[in-house]
Amino acid sequence: MNTEDENKLTSGELADAAEFSDERTLRPQYLSQYIGQDKIKEQLDIFIKAAKMREESLDHVLLFGPPGLGKTTMAFVIANELGVNIKQTSGPAIEKAGDLVAILNELEAGDVLFIDEIHRLPMSVEEVLYSAMEDFYIDIMIGGAESSRSVHLELPPFTLIGATTRAGMLSNPLRARFGINAHMAYYELRDLTEIVIRTADIFEVEITGDGAHEIARRSRGTPRIANRLLKRVRDYAQIKGTGTVTDEITRQALTMLDVDASGLDYIDQKIIRTMIEMYGGGPVGLGTLAVNISEERETLEDMYEPYLIQSGFLIRTRQGRKVTQKAYTHFGYAYPENENGG
Ligand SMILES: Nc1ncnc2c1ncn2[C@@H]1O[C@H](COP(=O)(O)OP(=O)(O)O)[C@@H](O)[C@H]1O
Ligand SMILES: [Mg+2]
Repeated sequence: MNTEDENKLTSGELADAAEFSDERTLRPQYLSQYIGQDKIKEQLDIFIKAAKMREESLDHVLLFGPPGLGKTTMAFVIANELGVNIKQTSGPAIEKAGDLVAILNELEAGDVLFIDEIHRLPMSVEEVLYSAMEDFYIDIMIGGAESSRSVHLELPPFTLIGATTRAGMLSNPLRARFGINAHMAYYELRDLTEIVIRTADIFEVEITGDGAHEIARRSRGTPRIANRLLKRVRDYAQIKGTGTVTDEITRQALTMLDVDASGLDYIDQKIIRTMIEMYGGGPVGLGTLAVNISEERETLEDMYEPYLIQSGFLIRTRQGRKVTQKAYTHFGYAYPENENGG
């Protein structure tokens, strides 16, 4: 297996069309089927019920968190719970204000407009969105230079759901227009284990409790990765075992795929090793690091760094990123006691 495939295996990003169709099958439809993220579910449940009781549209919702945590899934769940239609688009897909106007024009009262990667909306489009979100109207300029005039368009009340991997990249005026903010956290082991069992059930894979636990443990707190690892372990179990996914089969399969006991992959290893071997453990800037390991800075920031920080291998300081004692130990290096205070 080459490096690129390995990256796909443990990155939270969507890999291909086949995976996309699996995801549709696996997507929970209602809050009660959505596993984990209890705090967000509890809040949304109240806000949704209240909006329905008042027969109003739900306030705009901003979902943020790393790829694969269930943002798109949650957007569809919210629309189902509200009992309304959902239109899906993404920041990069809306190139000019006219594209957005066309989408807004199709909305019916109460509908959900889901904009994925909302931090990538062009500024000119974002500005049109402000009045649409706040007061449900848009003013647009039509016609050429000489004959241009402003047209006022009233919109039905609707709910905008924005998803982003980067809360920091959203402009303040846009962020301020979301009444509900939901920060998705990496899943707890217990919840992820439950997701693996649910997926196995849907795919009709036999799995033991320990097997599900072992897959969950190596999935970086991310449902998309858990579902993906389950599929690969299922293949392994079918060919090398009896077809049942056990903890032992999981360990064998994931060792073959270079997914380590903490779910860290080739890029994670490269990040930590480079920091230790070339920069004495840090501090080192993210840009410098990205150049050294030939990855995009954004990829490191969105996909790798959050999990390495969350699991205690990396810390952020004002001078840059530093590796922790845990990282030295995990990757088999001696920790330089006197140099690094901690
Ligand atoms: N809470 C959950 N319970 C069960 N499955 C989930 C949950 N969250 C996500 N998934 C599954 O994980 C996959 C990725 O979720 P998705 O919503 O596409 O993530 P995101 O939009 O944040 O990248 C989908 O197959 C989805 O069904
Ligand atoms: Mg998504």
